[in-house]
Amino acid sequence: MAEPSAQSGHEPHDAPAAWGFDSPGGWGGGYGTGSGAGIPDRPGGGSAQQGGLVGAVLRCVARNVWAFGLELGALAVLAAPAVLGAAHGWPIVGGLGSGLLLAVLLGVGPMRRLAGRVRHQAMTRRCWHRAVRALGDADTAAWRGGQVAVRAVTCRPAGDVLDVRVPVGGTVADLEKAAEALAVVLEIRQVRVRRDPDNARQARVSLIRRDPLAAPAPAWPHTGAERLSLWDPIPVGVDEDGQPVTLTLPERNVLLGGEPGAGKSAALSLLVATAALDPNVRLHLLDGKLVELAGWAGCADSTAGVNVEDANLLLARLRAEMDARYLSLLANRARKVAPDFGLPLHLVVIDELAHYLLNGERKERALFAELMRDLVARGRAAGIIVIAATQKPQHDVIPTALRDLFGFRWALRCSTPQASDTVLGAGWASQGHTASDIDSAHRGVGLLLHEGAQPVRLRSHYLDDPTLASIAARAERLRRSGAGQQPTGDIACQEQTR
Ligand SMILES: Nc1ncnc2c1ncn2[C@@H]1O[C@H](COP(=O)(O)OP(=O)(O)OP(=O)(O)O)[C@@H](O)[C@H]1O
Ligand SMILES: [Mg+2]
Repeated sequence: MAEPSAQSGHEPHDAPAAWGFDSPGGWGGGYGTGSGAGIPDRPGGGSAQQGGLVGAVLRCVARNVWAFGLELGALAVLAAPAVLGAAHGWPIVGGLGSGLLLAVLLGVGPMRRLAGRVRHQAMTRRCWHRAVRALGDADTAAWRGGQVAVRAVTCRPAGDVLDVRVPVGGTVADLEKAAEALAVVLEIRQVRVRRDPDNARQARVSLIRRDPLAAPAPAWPHTGAERLSLWDPIPVGVDEDGQPVTLTLPERNVLLGGEPGAGKSAALSLLVATAALDPNVRLHLLDGKLVELAGWAGCADSTAGVNVEDANLLLARLRAEMDARYLSLLANRARKVAPDFGLPLHLVVIDELAHYLLNGERKERALFAELMRDLVARGRAAGIIVIAATQKPQHDVIPTALRDLFGFRWALRCSTPQASDTVLGAGWASQGHTASDIDSAHRGVGLLLHEGAQPVRLRSHYLDDPTLASIAARAERLRRSGAGQQPTGDIACQEQTR
């Protein structure tokens, strides 16, 4: 990585708190320090010339000694036997000792890897400090908060993660605003900043250097499963660290958005496959394209195609079921459906949501929007889960009163940051979480906003047609075998017969 060059001429603008050996991450990290030659201007007190050339040179040397302390320390340890040996008249023994240390460091695999990792962390710290200093020195408003101390560096497949501490006078929000400018100085893909929810002074900064999601995700872990439960977390893909990402559906509704071919239906199929393999789940499929969900028709309790009236009938029946279920819950003094109640979950899957909101007669469209809104708003405690996919969730397509009710958002590739924000919610793109920077060749890559405080970038598992057909056939057999009969519990006894 190219190291940024600092510019001179910028007067310090902040408290002189960081003057001197202030930072665990590097010498000379003081506010507004440094010209390109590393000669800092003393805050509030004249130039380097006034402070004396000797002092400035000493500070410059000390800064670099501090910055390269790790390498210098390692060199000192390696050279120590040779120096001591020479001093005591045993130069050959001392030389052999140093040679042995070097051989262990370079020849023993774990040692070599450890040394490489530690050196990489030291280099990352230096680059970070130079970049922050360069931004502060450059006469721009990008970042004027002073030096940002690095507490820890972790290497990840996507790049490096820094746990940082902003100086007094700066805020993490300012650092977030400077993220793009920092990425420019560091010459990397992206800088993402996430504030520590418990400490306003601390933040986690991700230096994204490469896209680890360029390769397809591994096979879906449940491809060969005989039976699953929709109450359990569903593996949906892998994140940038190669870690599995799961989604837990009960009490949640999910909205998927993204441009054509981004991978929405493929992502939906993972959730539908799980529901199909849970014989206790009642599956309802609304497919505005007819073919996307057709493979699961044999597992569905009800289906609707392109006709909006059919879709309305299906949703109206579900709403009646929801109302009846609330009466059952009331009678049993329960507030929501739980796994041991013996009531089946209902999964309502809508692919091409926009089709039902834009086509057909105005009255039918309005009815569809109202039924959907009611189910998404009130279905949670009654065990009704709605997942919907659409290309354009803009307000002129999906009423905001409906869109905003979806708790989980999954943005596949979008054409603009604004479109990405429409799926995830306003403001995420400006914090570096945008589905518009996804390479169009990397289908199935997206941002999932669910349990965590921030969207997770992931690549979803993919079920190709033969795999999907074999899961669907297995699910149909399971359902035909009667495995899905609900255990009889208090609630189940009192639920109205439909
Ligand atoms: N996770 C994935 N891994 C690999 N390839 C994928 C993945 N998801 C989707 N694809 C590829 O992208 C193609 C389009 O995916 P999909 O049909 O899900 O897109 P879509 O967003 O639903 O498009 P549309 O809006 O037109 O319905 C798939 O046929 C498949 O080839
Ligand atoms: Mg689709």
